[in-house]
Amino acid sequence: MAENSNELMDKLVALCKRRGFIFQSSEIYGGINGFWDYGPLGVELKRNIKDAWWEDIVRKRDDMVGVDCSIIMNPKVWEASGHLAGFTDPMVDCKGCKARFRGDQFDLYETSKVPNIPAQVFATPVDAFNAFRDEQVRLDTRIIANPGMTTEELQSVYRRGTGRNRARIVLRGAGIFVADGKDCYQLTRIVNQPCKPGDKCPICGGDLTEARKFNMMFKTFVGAMEDSSAVAYLRPETAQGIFANYKNVLDTSRIKVPFGIAQIGKAFRNEINPRNYTFRSREFEQMEIEFFCHPNEADKWYEYWRDARFNWYVGLGLRSSRLRLRPHEKDELAFYARSCADIEYEFPFGISELEGVANRTDYDLTQHQKFSGKDMAYFDDDAWQTFLDQRKAEGKPELTKEEKTTLSSGSSFRYTPHVIEPSGGVDRATLAFLCEAYTEDQAPDEKGVMQSRTVMKFHPRLAPIKVAVFPLVKKEGMPEVADRIYRAAKKAGLAAFYDEKGAVGRRYRRQDEAGTPFCVTVDGQTLQDQTVTVRDRDSLKQDRIAADNVVPYVREKLSS
Ligand code: GAP
Repeated sequence: MAENSNELMDKLVALCKRRGFIFQSSEIYGGINGFWDYGPLGVELKRNIKDAWWEDIVRKRDDMVGVDCSIIMNPKVWEASGHLAGFTDPMVDCKGCKARFRGDQFDLYETSKVPNIPAQVFATPVDAFNAFRDEQVRLDTRIIANPGMTTEELQSVYRRGTGRNRARIVLRGAGIFVADGKDCYQLTRIVNQPCKPGDKCPICGGDLTEARKFNMMFKTFVGAMEDSSAVAYLRPETAQGIFANYKNVLDTSRIKVPFGIAQIGKAFRNEINPRNYTFRSREFEQMEIEFFCHPNEADKWYEYWRDARFNWYVGLGLRSSRLRLRPHEKDELAFYARSCADIEYEFPFGISELEGVANRTDYDLTQHQKFSGKDMAYFDDDAWQTFLDQRKAEGKPELTKEEKTTLSSGSSFRYTPHVIEPSGGVDRATLAFLCEAYTEDQAPDEKGVMQSRTVMKFHPRLAPIKVAVFPLVKKEGMPEVADRIYRAAKKAGLAAFYDEKGAVGRRYRRQDEAGTPFCVTVDGQTLQDQTVTVRDRDSLKQDRIAADNVVPYVREKLSS
């Protein structure tokens, strides 16, 4: 199972690079660990995910507004939020090879004898090392040694690489095979174990330091002076920009509690061990909601958002059988949180968090009130007016100024809102949609012979290209008609692609790999009756429709 999953991840990573979904950042210089770039198809996919979120979360609702805050904020924000003191991971170092690990997510290796040496065998250990060294985006590297290779030889190969390459190979390896000339052993990685006293370095077997706290915020300096007064941080979450602007939003919009503020933006964390492709990066994007409500309604809104967010992923094509809601155990909860659940997805490398939904009580607003000296309480003037009207209707005497002051400060009218926070990662969502979409199946070629194909079955709303247009041949006026359809689709705002190169079957395959849901072909019949074929990516069914009807046809399919 593990091997198939790792193979699947390898194939997906290769496809993402080959087709321009995801590249390693600064690849021409050897890359930089934990940073990724999105290519032409990837950026469209990611943008479609963000647009779908913004559309569904902000534009379609009456109780949500958006903000776009700066990445660098006054450092006091991070003091108030607790990030300066507490946004740390335990870190351990190897005293021998100097590799660095997260102490709470340590990888251990179990050795078991395997009966057969797997298929890929390298002539020399150096060949094995070199073969994998350049494949920097591989998630699961299996070094399968020559039967004559000893464990010492394998280790010496590791040591010959640079520190970074060496770590990459070993840390990413879910299965490393070593052979001692007689038997072959598989080292199986058991991930995310807390490091215990006496544990050894999984790379070189050396002794480890005690765990130290490592703050994950990236530090920088604002202005020309690089002294302590100029220190600032790249935000590790977008949430604090929302809290810092909560009063501004209330004062400048007509919105009333319960309401939410949404933000999509970059966040930065100096992760000790970036891993699993884009899953844990050092620079990533978040899509976060802070939903402000009366304390008595917080449990209700927590359940509402937890379920709404889960269903959002299902609605965009993640199979619910691969998703799960995992409520946090009491001892997992932050001290201020009343409840929290992770929406988890079954990635090929394991079940991992896609989004967290937390009831953060009034912790953040109270902290910002304390540190900024600004009042963060909310006064519900509608409820107050209803109360006064009711008294009047009941013939009760008018309240004195003092009575008004005392009564209006009661918690039904004046309170610090509690906050429900659904906090998702754009890159993690993108990775989940990529994993979900990756499919290998069979499709007939031009001669009707079944061939295996790789197809990215994205939800049409997320597909980077919505429609591709082909002339069957590059003559007889077909390119002109196809070009007209292509331009009409572009003008209508549909992401469209024109392709006249190669056999039409090949062109279908290229679009299948890009995840394009509809391919329109202009053929001989088009010239007779102005109809074209539209091929459905998933069912492979071909509809013949009027050439003028392509845009409304695709639009209707996209919205159904
Ligand atoms: N404001 C709450 C908060 O930031 P979090 O669980 O630390 O909570 C929320 O992060 C989401 O951000 C995660 O569920 C994940 O999708 C994404 N995320 C966090 N760290 C990430 C990383 N290193 N790389 C990619 N995505 C990350």
